[in-house]
Amino acid sequence: MKKIVSAVLLVLLISSGAWAQAAYDSAKVKAAMQANSAALGTIKKAIDASDTLATADAFWTIVQANRPMLGYSPPKGDKASWDKAFNEMIASALKGMGAAGSKDWDKAKAALAELRADMSSGHGAFR
Ligand code: HEM
Repeated sequence: MKKIVSAVLLVLLISSGAWAQAAYDSAKVKAAMQANSAALGTIKKAIDASDTLATADAFWTIVQANRPMLGYSPPKGDKASWDKAFNEMIASALKGMGAAGSKDWDKAKAALAELRADMSSGHGAFR
């Protein structure tokens, strides 16, 4: 009896994971990517203007645009690497927000460079 209950729980656990993860949605990913492109330009301008709030706001746009990507499976490659890539990208953007808050413009520029590197490796693996 115990074994049957364990087996049923295991099946429920596995299938609930499958429900939580949506299939790849090209239109949603493209929309997020277009927001990313626009945000990179905005971040650059805001840093050049030493504008704390505009810089933080533009880095936050990256966080918001990419967080939903964690809910999708990738178009190719494995889900764990996809999640890792987006979590790293979100971490780079949060670093940029922190840098904006402390008016550390070199650190903000480094966070922007990290985002560009995240893009290159993300496109290399999944695009
Ligand atoms: C700041 C960082 C990034 C920028 C600026 C960026 C920009 C773009 C742009 C402009 C496109 C073309 C969108 C279109 O066809 O309308 C694109 C596509 C794509 N990007 Fe990114 N990207 C970034 C980061 C990433 C990362 C980290 C990943 C994966 C981990 C990724 C995965 C993809 C994929 C899979 C597509 C193809 C979408 C499709 O056609 O279905 N991108 N990206």
